[in-house]
Amino acid sequence: MHNAAFAALGLDWAYVPLPVPPERVGEAVRGLAALGFAGANITVPHKQAVIPFLDELTPIARAVGAVNTLVVRPDGSLLGDNTDGAGFMADLWAHGVRVCGSMGVSEYKPSALPHSHTPTRALVLGAGGAARAVVYALAEAGARVAVANRTQDRAQALCQALGAALEATAETQSAQRDSECLSDLRVSAVRPSSRLSAHPFPDALPELAAEAELIVNTTSLGLHEGDPLPWDAALPFRPGQVVYDLIYNRPTALLALARSQGATAIDGLGMLAHQGARAFELWTGVAAPAEVMLEAIREP
Ligand code: ATR
Repeated sequence: MHNAAFAALGLDWAYVPLPVPPERVGEAVRGLAALGFAGANITVPHKQAVIPFLDELTPIARAVGAVNTLVVRPDGSLLGDNTDGAGFMADLWAHGVRVCGSMGVSEYKPSALPHSHTPTRALVLGAGGAARAVVYALAEAGARVAVANRTQDRAQALCQALGAALEATAETQSAQRDSECLSDLRVSAVRPSSRLSAHPFPDALPELAAEAELIVNTTSLGLHEGDPLPWDAALPFRPGQVVYDLIYNRPTALLALARSQGATAIDGLGMLAHQGARAFELWTGVAAPAEVMLEAIREP
């Protein structure tokens, strides 16, 4: 998708895959500047392991505890960022879902989009690495986020860590929030750390499902044919609810169920494109052609 974007904009850049064994991740990123790279994406299993080798982290990368994008700065130093949360919010935005305070990538003109959903109560299924980026982004935008995970301790630890990080950035956040959103934001008075709550999966689903306006699957359930639903099939979805599944490699049973019951169902392909679009902008300083990138990764 990056090469398609470079071609569309006539940029003489190239994006190349570089498999790196875990024990050599430090050597690899330390060589990027000398090799003339402007940046890199970091993927599984290096997203956390790369951190000690970087010169600086963005507040989001620090809060999430994982890096997916590196920027090589002019002096050769390395900045670690995490664009997964921004990619998720941008894709919600592109689908007409506007969590208060959220922003799309530059090519989306907010006024031109019919934002039919403005959820303030989200339910996130799972508490792994992908959940951290999503939960942070949603709570930072002002939503109340319930995190339901099979291992409840993990959900609790996530809420505690991200709550503390959100408190630390709360001042900047409220300064950035746009005034139109503030006026109809039902949760603006709630402290950032109090917007997060941890729950057992699946036991808490009946109680949480009723009030959730946005439900996000970040678990690995659905990645493989025959996986159980990350949901209780006896709990109906409803029109007006938005169900987002981060899985993008195959159509999931969760989204099929949501769609059949009248909810808005969104897969993770757009998040993949938009996290890439954000990285593209960090490296090139040029607005990313997000639609071109999305088209490039869509199945033919
Ligand atoms: P990632 O970094 O992609 O989020 P991860 O850290 O391995 O991957 O997290 C996977 C998530 O899927 C976790 O929330 C995991 O729950 P646990 O924390 O209890 O392990 C969840 N998950 C995986 N298999 C599951 C299953 N069979 N039932 C419920 N949740 C499951």
